[in-house]
Amino acid sequence: MDISFKIGQIKRGFNIFRQVCINCHSLKLFKLMDLLKLGYTHKQAALLVKKYRIIDYFKLPYKSIIQAKHFNNGSLPPDLSLVTKYRSFQWIYDLLTGYGNTVIRNKSNLYQNKGLESGWTAMRPPLAYGCIKDNFCAQHTIHQYTRDVIGFLNWVSEPWLNIRQRITIPILSSLFITGLILTNSLIKNNNKTLWEYIVNNHLFGSWNH
Ligand code: HEC
Repeated sequence: MDISFKIGQIKRGFNIFRQVCINCHSLKLFKLMDLLKLGYTHKQAALLVKKYRIIDYFKLPYKSIIQAKHFNNGSLPPDLSLVTKYRSFQWIYDLLTGYGNTVIRNKSNLYQNKGLESGWTAMRPPLAYGCIKDNFCAQHTIHQYTRDVIGFLNWVSEPWLNIRQRITIPILSSLFITGLILTNSLIKNNNKTLWEYIVNNHLFGSWNH
């Protein structure tokens, strides 16, 4: 499945989450502040979900678990922070795209879903063609939305990835500097420093002529 860590996909996926999934699911490993890692400013991030401060995680949007179940056919919408860790991308993809064109409900009010082995889920079909407002007024298919929202959820579940990206440059530069210092002392010859060595051996050409 074509899930990347491309910033565009993660941003589109967040946009879907904040417009749709946030109405039923919590996301306890995510705060608006995390959006700074995607290049949003503090101010922009703070405005994206009005009911949360930038340092709050996204709570289950019901007064209690009983109420959450009451509104969802007796099922609790699970926290989605780690869903890409305990379900495969394909499993989530099949679920979100598995409702078919007509919504069918059984006697227990469950929704038919071909993506699930049981064939039924308590989750109302969350996505429809063009249902997300975005800056470009682009209308996307359920398949595209699904890929994007999985990309976002996967990013939420991999905090190390962001850190890895952020520390690459400092790590590489400190390795480079350590390397220079080491080379310098190894080459030290007759108490000469690397620079004297370079100059004396005309490694960069001669400055005398
Ligand atoms: C109207 C409420 C509602 C909305 C909106 C909603 N969900 Fe759900 N979702 C549920 C409920 C309820 C369940 C539990 C279904 C069950 O147990 O049968 C669920 C289950 C899931 C599961 C399965 C988790 C698991 O491990 O079994 C995933 C994945 C999921 N939702 C993703 C999403 C995504 C992504 C969005 C946004 C695009 C979304 N949901 C929007 C109510 C909702």
